Amino acid sequence: MTSTKRLSTILATGVAVALTLTACAGTSTTTDSAGSSGKAIADCNVGISMPTRSLERWINDGEGLKTQLEGAGCTVDLQYADNKTDQQISQIQNQVAGGAKILVVASIDGKVLSPVLAEAKKQDATVIAYDRLINGTEDVDYYATFDNYKVGQLQGQFIESQLGLADGKGPFNLEPFAGSPDDNNAKFFFSGAWDVLLPYVESGQLVVPSGKAPKSNDDWTTIGIQGWASDKSQAEMDNRLSSFYRDGSKVNVVLSPNDSLAVGIEASLKSAGYTPGADYPLITGQDADKANVKAILDGAQSMTVWKDTRTLGEQVFTMIKSIAAGEKVEVNDTKTYDNGKKVVPSFLLAPEVVTKDDVQTKLIDSGFIKASDVGL
Ligand code: BGC
Repeated sequence: MTSTKRLSTILATGVAVALTLTACAGTSTTTDSAGSSGKAIADCNVGISMPTRSLERWINDGEGLKTQLEGAGCTVDLQYADNKTDQQISQIQNQVAGGAKILVVASIDGKVLSPVLAEAKKQDATVIAYDRLINGTEDVDYYATFDNYKVGQLQGQFIESQLGLADGKGPFNLEPFAGSPDDNNAKFFFSGAWDVLLPYVESGQLVVPSGKAPKSNDDWTTIGIQGWASDKSQAEMDNRLSSFYRDGSKVNVVLSPNDSLAVGIEASLKSAGYTPGADYPLITGQDADKANVKAILDGAQSMTVWKDTRTLGEQVFTMIKSIAAGEKVEVNDTKTYDNGKKVVPSFLLAPEVVTKDDVQTKLIDSGFIKASDVGL
């Protein structure tokens, strides 16, 4: 494909997604002037800051965006921060010192970047929050992400329909988990799921034997797993199983906000003697990591919410093209993401559910993963 054709394909995809989201979310597609300074950026020098290499998705996100940008002639510095906030700050500082005019940041802790972004603004850099919102600063221009509330809602609705909760079925034993307390997304994931599930907890159709059932969405951090770490979710699940299921009762469903937590939860269930089959609990996830897709095929995980990170990269690439050309930047949500200082103009993409039945059609046929990666 020629680069012009590729760019028009990308733009067409972006517009199509924007229109779809407009229809679904009731938001309107709007535009905003390029950069808070309003000035065109003459050269394309981009700093990309990603949280960690320990999760497959961030490797794909970073490498994919870098390849696209370099293909368009940009200078790109891509850094991973080992999930350490200080490291991320100093990496961004170096990118700013190296003359980055556009920063793409998937923050580890969205609340600690104000000083370094203020530095970036002194040289008129444009800042794009990638996947995770950056909080408490004026110095973030755009946000590109998947619809985070929708991710949780899809998990909650999956549980609701699989268990027949709307038809009055139950009671079922539920163990809910939430993501890292420092990640702004985790709150949205939990709220999306809990808005569906809490009424069933209140009606008694879902019972939480461990008692770890937040009374409201705002209490989600009480069940948050720091750093999204698999070993921590495993230890937490071990504790719940050994303390609250000693009488032989069984877990029927686990709300896991993402795949890395699901890995730990599944390992814990396995060591407690649970094996895939009729009595195995429903377990949710997010990201379509290869190990989890394999678990879905093996019956050890029920679903994952797939966020095609290639489309997120393409959307950010489109944003950068517009910024570099001094053109309007397309966004499709100007209401949802208030970072405490401003509502950040956002472009939200649509996540989707993947189960055993559509691993082939959605993930493999689209080239997101290879059949051989998941033992097919
Ligand atoms: C991302 C998820 C990811 C999680 C852990 C979240 O902010 O949106 O896709 O699973 O971080 O890295």
